[in-house]
Amino acid sequence: MNAWKVYELGDYREVLKWEECDQPKPEGSEALIKVKAIGLNFPDILGIAGKHQSKTELPYIPGQEGAGEVIEVGPDCEYKVGDRLMTMGKGAFAEYWVAKKETTFKVPDGMTDVDAAAFQMIYQTSYFGLRIRADLQPGEVLLVHAGAGGVGTAAIQLGKIMGATVIATAGSDVKLDICRQCGADHVINYEKDDIVQSVKDLTDGKGADVIYDPVGGDVFDKSSKCINWNGRIVIVGFTSGRIAEIKTNRILLKNMSVTGLFWGAYRIHQPHLIREAQEVLYDYYAAGDLKPVIYNNYPLKELPDALDAISTRASYGKVVLTP
Ligand SMILES: NC(=O)c1ccc[n+]([C@@H]2O[C@H](COP(=O)([O-])OP(=O)(O)OC[C@H]3O[C@@H](n4cnc5c(N)ncnc54)[C@H](OP(=O)(O)O)[C@@H]3O)[C@@H](O)[C@H]2O)c1
Repeated sequence: MNAWKVYELGDYREVLKWEECDQPKPEGSEALIKVKAIGLNFPDILGIAGKHQSKTELPYIPGQEGAGEVIEVGPDCEYKVGDRLMTMGKGAFAEYWVAKKETTFKVPDGMTDVDAAAFQMIYQTSYFGLRIRADLQPGEVLLVHAGAGGVGTAAIQLGKIMGATVIATAGSDVKLDICRQCGADHVINYEKDDIVQSVKDLTDGKGADVIYDPVGGDVFDKSSKCINWNGRIVIVGFTSGRIAEIKTNRILLKNMSVTGLFWGAYRIHQPHLIREAQEVLYDYYAAGDLKPVIYNNYPLKELPDALDAISTRASYGKVVLTP
């Protein structure tokens, strides 16, 4: 089979190699899938560059999520040849991939391969952020930063399902339209308009109850100035490149919580919550309330161009590859 391999960490343009590799063999409860679609994520770039908190042994095939059809199973596998699966792990940027039991789900009838490949990371992350970490309540105001990004689009859609009024920020008019299409009630171009004043104007001076922050840096600094009494800021990521700091007296004076989210680590600490969330998310999808926004679908061989779309901030929603 062909796959993208990394022998040394660095800029993806330099270190990604398209190579012929041995097709993996499923063992135990594993299933071998013929990959039909692959979802890209911002952390793919961080991982290849050696800048992600999770480290990987070299060499490796990067790529964290995808969907495909089972062509071979291990002796204890619960799936059968022909089943359609979505899975997560390492090694997605390949024509064939071994799906591990813990992170694999059957794709429901009616869900396309592309939607399945784009589903797990963004909806699981945003569901955990809003439901489990922030305990978002109906009637609350949710501020989603980078609302047109992968996890951002998911957070807007889920925020509306959970009954919140959603304000979304983004860096261009095209992206503001994407936020509106996902259901945002109000949008702010944070490249042009002041986040703090805009949020205060939209909330009678109170601020947002929950702030979902994949950006960090200046955006986090501003969030701490437009958060309501009892508000919760969920730290999701640092796409701005700067990890912000906050003085604890501000947390006290605002009576607020700053809460971290590391969704991937739930697979180790509380995996049952991931299975429960998946059932809920499938129900939302079946009802038509969740729909991944797909920016573009590239051939697998064009992975570096697809990663460019993310790293240059051109993309919105999910970028997908198909072998
Ligand atoms: N905590 C977790 O468990 C978890 C899980 C998944 C992802 N994440 C993190 O969440 C973040 C977003 O991931 P994603 O897959 O949704 O990414 P994405 O689709 O690429 O969206 C990220 C957005 O960040 C904004 N941004 C602001 N400054 C940027 C910069 N300097 N460079 C690039 N983008 C910038 C961009 O929107 P504008 O152009 O509108 O500003 C972009 O659309 C990443 O940091 C990722 O590592 C965390």
